[in-house]
Amino acid sequence: MSKSIAILAGDGIGPEVTKQAVKCLDAIAEVFNHKISYQEALIGAAAIDATGNPFPEATEEICKATDAILFGAIGHPKYDNDPTAKVRPEQGLLAMRKKLGLFANVRPVNSYEVLLPISPLKEEIIRGTDFVVFRELTGGIYFGEPRGRSEDGNIAFDSCVYTKHEIERIAHYAFKAAEKRRKKVTLVDKANVLATSRLWRETVTALAKQYPEIKLDFMFVDNAAMKIIQNPKHFDVVLTENMFGDIITDEASVISGSLGMLPSASLGTNQSLFEPIHGSYPEVAGQNKANPIGAILSAAMLLEYAFQWHEESNLIKKAVAKTLDEGFTTEDIFKENAKGTEEVGDKIASFIKSDSKVLAN
Ligand code: IPM
Ligand code: MN
Repeated sequence: MSKSIAILAGDGIGPEVTKQAVKCLDAIAEVFNHKISYQEALIGAAAIDATGNPFPEATEEICKATDAILFGAIGHPKYDNDPTAKVRPEQGLLAMRKKLGLFANVRPVNSYEVLLPISPLKEEIIRGTDFVVFRELTGGIYFGEPRGRSEDGNIAFDSCVYTKHEIERIAHYAFKAAEKRRKKVTLVDKANVLATSRLWRETVTALAKQYPEIKLDFMFVDNAAMKIIQNPKHFDVVLTENMFGDIITDEASVISGSLGMLPSASLGTNQSLFEPIHGSYPEVAGQNKANPIGAILSAAMLLEYAFQWHEESNLIKKAVAKTLDEGFTTEDIFKENAKGTEEVGDKIASFIKSDSKVLAN
């Protein structure tokens, strides 16, 4: 099989972790005799420096012409403390999500046996955690109009806006995912306060009738923030709006042990993008210290969701698990005897190649 992937490495640690993901994809291509071609494109601070635009048209075209997009990270400290900056790297990511229609962000959260001791949470609470968050990605307060500042500059406003259509299309994805899992959807909202949340409840309740096998429950986001770390096994599929999903998935990463572990998929009708949920982590950029596993697991999600290469995707996940079992990790996980970004990437790629022989025999 022959496929093409757009590589948007982005800022900070983005390029070095993406390189490891590509290394693993190349290992898969070798083992399964596939042909994967890559097209690199600019995004974020790197794109602003080169073109003045954080999501240049040339990048948009490459994204539309390829079979899937692998994305690294976005953000640069020179913009973070400058409220006057007119163009910000993050606008590139938001513009890309909107222009490519990537409305469903899928963020799986799992605990790993070997990583249980490094989580600040109690082992018995997090052992066996396995849920997935469906975060709406192109609506809500991130994009709602009107937004801005009053003329005198003393008032600022953002609007949270949702349409029934926006809610329905991601809800279908969440219910379909639940059908293949433990058949439970938890809608996280703030329906006791927000009109948009009440529309979510109403719409999702009506839509749930099409999925009689699925149990739907509701939880206010403040309560959910507590439950996620108090009893994460309560959750199977979590369905929620854009900003709540952003916040609770960073929180949930504590269960896996490091933000560097979590992958994500952003799905649309025509395009799909895969990225680790971590940011650009400029403090360690270029130092061969960043954890590449979030990026590598994002590549595994790419194979599963964009190409439907399930066996290939599972092989990457198995190779990651094996590497973790050996305690072969970057410093965010085990400080003692920590390995570099490249070395962890090499190890996972080598397990992909050797495990495949075991499978073949
Ligand atoms: C994420 C990030 C982005 C978001 C930022 C960088 C705009 O935090 O993908 O979770 O808020 O969606
Ligand atoms: Mn976030």
